[in-house]
Amino acid sequence: MTRMIGALLSLAMTAMLTQAAMAASSANGEKMARRWCAACHVVAKDQASGTTQAPPFSGIANRPGFDASKLALWLLLPHPRMPDMNMSRSEAEDLAAYIADQGR
Ligand code: HEC
Repeated sequence: MTRMIGALLSLAMTAMLTQAAMAASSANGEKMARRWCAACHVVAKDQASGTTQAPPFSGIANRPGFDASKLALWLLLPHPRMPDMNMSRSEAEDLAAYIADQGR
């Protein structure tokens, strides 16, 4: 009986942790986007405007062939015209998840 309860508890914990991880990623991406990217990009629907050269995140997400995992990798590489954000892999994944949400 005790063992059974233990098993159930750890199942519930796993479910909770998985949910937290999934919810965290896009929400954390939004925080980073508003802090680091909003100066140039329109990162959310409630944002009036970015600069003209930087594509809005909703546009990026709606492109044919958009792939959040490719985007996460791309974000890790420094590229011209954007400052090198020097972000971690999980931060890049959070940002990509957030950008993907903007296409819906
Ligand atoms: C200093 C201004 C600036 C900041 C800050 C900035 N970007 Fe950009 N970004 C640009 C510009 C300009 C382009 C277009 C590059 C080009 O066309 O050569 C771009 C392009 C991109 C693209 C590629 C779009 C495509 O055409 O495929 C992505 C994705 C992107 N930015 C994500 C981000 C994210 C995520 C952040 C925040 C961590 C960020 N950017 C911060 C200016 C900026």
